[in-house]
Amino acid sequence: MLAFCSRAVAAMVRPCVLGRPRHLVKPVWASRVAGRYLSHQRGLPSLPVPPLQQTCQRYMAALEPIVEAHELSRTRRLVEEFQEAGGVGERLQRGLERRARGADNWLSQWWVQVAYLDFRMPVVVHSSPGLVLPRMDFRDRAGQIRFASRLIAGVLDFKTMIDNETLPVEYLGGKPLCMNQYYQVLSSCRIPGLKSDSVVNHARSSRPPRHITVAHNCQFFQLDVYSSDGTPLTPDQLCVQLEKICGASREAEAEPVGILTTQHRDVWGEAYLRLISDETNKESVTAIQRSIFTLCLDGAPRGAAAELHRSSAAVQMLHGGGSRGHSANRWFDKTLQFIVGEDGTCGANYEHAPAEGPPIVALIDHVVEYTRRKPETPGSPAGSPPVPRRLRFNVTPEIRRDIQDAKVSMDSLAQDLEVRVEVFGHFGKNVPKAHKMSPDAFIQMALQLAYYRRFRRCCSTYESASLRMFRLGRTDTIRSASSASASFVKAFDDPSKQNQEKVDLMENAVRAHRAYTNMAVSGQAIDRHLLGLKMQAAEENLPVPAVFTDPAYAKALHYRLSTSQVPSKTDCVMCFGPVVPDGYGVCYNPMEDHINFAVSAFNSCRETDAAVLAGAVEEALLDMRRLLDQNPRSKL
Ligand code: COA
Repeated sequence: MLAFCSRAVAAMVRPCVLGRPRHLVKPVWASRVAGRYLSHQRGLPSLPVPPLQQTCQRYMAALEPIVEAHELSRTRRLVEEFQEAGGVGERLQRGLERRARGADNWLSQWWVQVAYLDFRMPVVVHSSPGLVLPRMDFRDRAGQIRFASRLIAGVLDFKTMIDNETLPVEYLGGKPLCMNQYYQVLSSCRIPGLKSDSVVNHARSSRPPRHITVAHNCQFFQLDVYSSDGTPLTPDQLCVQLEKICGASREAEAEPVGILTTQHRDVWGEAYLRLISDETNKESVTAIQRSIFTLCLDGAPRGAAAELHRSSAAVQMLHGGGSRGHSANRWFDKTLQFIVGEDGTCGANYEHAPAEGPPIVALIDHVVEYTRRKPETPGSPAGSPPVPRRLRFNVTPEIRRDIQDAKVSMDSLAQDLEVRVEVFGHFGKNVPKAHKMSPDAFIQMALQLAYYRRFRRCCSTYESASLRMFRLGRTDTIRSASSASASFVKAFDDPSKQNQEKVDLMENAVRAHRAYTNMAVSGQAIDRHLLGLKMQAAEENLPVPAVFTDPAYAKALHYRLSTSQVPSKTDCVMCFGPVVPDGYGVCYNPMEDHINFAVSAFNSCRETDAAVLAGAVEEALLDMRRLLDQNPRSKL
């Protein structure tokens, strides 16, 4: 999740000169859709451009816990120069303000371009998150197909709300949110390019798709999911269709073309041109790209110890486990892929350019809830649906070599990534709430404490904050490492400190985090503003200002902790890779009485270890609660 994507990207935004983006995720509201959706979107405020002095001052404060004193004084000089009257900072600020007056959102197109489409690492692990659902109660092929049929029906049920514009508007802190991302996740796909990718969305084309793609045994099928009269196929009909697909692809005889989508984007961009130079291949690829979503029916798993099931499921959702696992039973460019294993393992993977986790999770919550409903008595379906169409590929020796290369790089990535999913069962949001603290801030401070205990230093930390209060808003960064968090973590294990002082420092750190969150969700954080100023310099063909070539800026963007809260109704957890080689990816879902979290790290880094950090977070959460319980606030 540049993570994640945005996190990864944010970590590596470079001084590139951006032209006008050629292909971008087009905001649906700018298209011909009318009605409720459009009037809701028009009513949302525009993303503000924060005041320059405010960002400069907050930037200096954010650097304090993560850079050395001598670096800080150099940066202070550069920042003063940057913001002085008549200086380059003022000029860029005016440029940004001009841009904001003429755009629906001054940031969103730049952001999608820089954070996702120009990002050239594989989307697998480095950008696309996985989502692990609770294990379902089937353990064989028949159960898998029955469940998958209901899942398809559930997605189509959600799609009806999108098509009819009847999706309930979401709120954050009492404010309505931008709903655009919901309109971007179905019928869309990322397309690899030679230097930059694009995203196409077919939902509002003149011929919107009526099929999904099903992947089984590394083979792809086009499955029409609507009858000739336009009604969705029933779960019973879908069951029959999926059985046909599984029957037709029982033997693993096909070339694993899907593995190509796991490659570095430049490499895949070249291989893509070779692949689609054949008309049959082009037609098959187009069918996948146009489809509403992809359903991956995975075969038998390699078997993990029961207590590690969630962690191995996370691997299956994030990258599929390598070329001998399920990595080729995917099309990772597809915006939304549902994954259903024969053993009840279930979840999703999504390509991050069009949307953040929360809309994806809301869709999945709906689908899971749908699959649990009592099946309705089927109506009489109109005619029998056509046989699912196998998507054929002609594989030349060059393409076979591309596939082989992709297998090698996917396998080394799979070997390098360690993922640990834990259910922290001692408490959830209930305990921080009882102590009148923000649960999210409490968990973030536990992460800070865990990291400090392990490394004896604070690190630049990214947490995603939603900007969806604004039209076409995506995210900004909550910088969880603050001076307040540094004082708290340094004092926590210090025997010379009184417990009451530690409680005060904890409360202070939690309050500071919540204040940063409020600032970020209201469009007043620093990271996207700084990025915008840098992009504006490129836009005006100015040299990159020295504040952005300063080592402290690089340090600020080197997120050793890349984190995100993705809440849901379903008892699930999202997961993503670290965004720097020596970092961790941490995603969590705080439920009322427990917390699901996923930690990832690269094995090639000797410093990091996902299981160890996961254990340290659990310990930190317990220690923080113990301290609060043992030092109750006076009721007076
Ligand atoms: N005392 C008691 N309760 C409190 C409290 C306090 N001091 N502060 C907060 N709470 C309560 C809230 O009312 C809320 O209650 P609810 O469970 O009934 O809804 C709950 O605790 C959670 O609040 P909090 O933990 O502060 O977090 P949040 O819900 O405001 O979320 C963010 C914070 C940053 C996660 C959220 O603003 C956000 O931006 N989410 C999107 C992130 C995103 O896009 N991630 C995906 C990237 S791919």
